[in-house]
Amino acid sequence: MLKLHNVSKCYGQQLAVNNVTLTVEAGEIFGLIGQSGAGKSTILRMMNCLEEPTSGDVIVGEQNLVKSTPRQLRAARKSIGMIFQHFNLVANKTVFQNVEIALVLAKYPKAQRKKRVMECLQFVGLQAFQSKYPAQLSGGQKQRVAIARALANEPAVLLCDEPTSSLDPKTTAEILHVLQEINKRLDVTIVIVSHEMDVIKRICHRVCVVSKGEVYDIVNIEPIGIAKIEDHPQTFVDELVREGL
Ligand SMILES: Nc1ncnc2c1ncn2[C@@H]1O[C@H](COP(=O)(O)OP(=O)(O)OP(=O)(O)O)[C@@H](O)[C@H]1O
Ligand SMILES: [Mg+2]
Repeated sequence: MLKLHNVSKCYGQQLAVNNVTLTVEAGEIFGLIGQSGAGKSTILRMMNCLEEPTSGDVIVGEQNLVKSTPRQLRAARKSIGMIFQHFNLVANKTVFQNVEIALVLAKYPKAQRKKRVMECLQFVGLQAFQSKYPAQLSGGQKQRVAIARALANEPAVLLCDEPTSSLDPKTTAEILHVLQEINKRLDVTIVIVSHEMDVIKRICHRVCVVSKGEVYDIVNIEPIGIAKIEDHPQTFVDELVREGL
């Protein structure tokens, strides 16, 4: 459903991502793990061409984003939602307005916007917070608003860059639960970047280990669920990470 083919990214002289080829299958939760500076965010941001690859192809569905016109790219991006570590909400807009922005930008019919915003807020459990401002919310609530905004245009794929890295363990579990529900109930394919193995192990079906801008390995994992992580033995992927990849 989403394929990077021989994708590289240079920043000036620096090769940040080197010849990455990988396919994310429809319906899966796909993890990207690796050390700081490994190139995880750059790879993720190339999946919707937020970052334009220096070379290579990005295929989403049938469309090659690299070869698309700006108009085609805008249309394709409607089917790709994105959330970030620091939530990226608009401070002077309410919760309702923050979600509505996505619909306004996508030229969603005005008469149906309110209903759609409230559906999305209901999905993340924040209907009662629609008139609050981001500064009045906890970190977990802010991330829920960002998730509602990302869901507004019914994306097929949700890209998540360290979505729980600013959150405490309990809130992390809650957000991972929301992501799992989005995957299961809304059939949204999820790509999640994290440097925390615990996060990956809880919900991902496969994980790609990124090291020095390259794909070191792609490993199937059995998601162990959100609770009771301490009870589970270390996995093969932990060993890779311990090896410093
Ligand atoms: N806009 C940019 N301009 C110049 N160099 C960049 C830019 N973005 C990333 N880089 C460089 O590319 C490399 C990969 O960065 P990237 O942000 O993708 O890593 P990461 O794995 O997401 O790291 P972290 O875990 O710290 O978020 C790093 O060496 C970084 O300094
Ligand atoms: Mg990053």
